[in-house]
Amino acid sequence: SIFFSNKLHKAGEVSDCQSSSKDKVHMFMSSYIEMQTLKTPRVRDVTTQVSLQLALKFNGGGHINHTIFWTNLSPNGGGEPQGELLEAIKRDFGSLQKMKEKMSAATVAVQGSGWGWLGFDKDSGRLRIAACANQDPLQGTTGLVPLLGIDVWEHAYYLQYKNVRPDYVKAIWNVVNWENVSERLQAAKK
Ligand SMILES: [Fe+2]
Repeated sequence: SIFFSNKLHKAGEVSDCQSSSKDKVHMFMSSYIEMQTLKTPRVRDVTTQVSLQLALKFNGGGHINHTIFWTNLSPNGGGEPQGELLEAIKRDFGSLQKMKEKMSAATVAVQGSGWGWLGFDKDSGRLRIAACANQDPLQGTTGLVPLLGIDVWEHAYYLQYKNVRPDYVKAIWNVVNWENVSERLQAAKK
């Protein structure tokens, strides 16, 4: 199914080529790997343990990341965030435009496949920009609570943008669901 079929903008189709079928693979693999991990004797086979953990990180992370990503985007998205989120962005980055520029730059600069993130630092109570490689989950990797993610695996944009990652990252701001990002900030502050 086409995720954002009503949106004329190219960015509206970003999720079509990586529809929920890919996420189901991540979910299935996570369950499978967890079962294998439970079945593997703890000390005897460290190599197997390590490889299972890496596979779990990839598939579990992939599921977590895409679950956030799909709710972060909306065909009715774009525009500006409101209220507390906007105030926090202004406080921590100077302006919405500066935050977008910083996050876009960090996301475009990901080596190979990975994700760019706007996250919440619970210790300082501030917003931060981060990037993660592969499917490494933001919170498990950096401690930041994920608010907004940009998937820069090539499958996320190849159909519409070929290998031009900066154009895709620029366009994705047109479909950001700021209400979802705000809800995530509220939840993270509790
Ligand atoms: Fe993806």
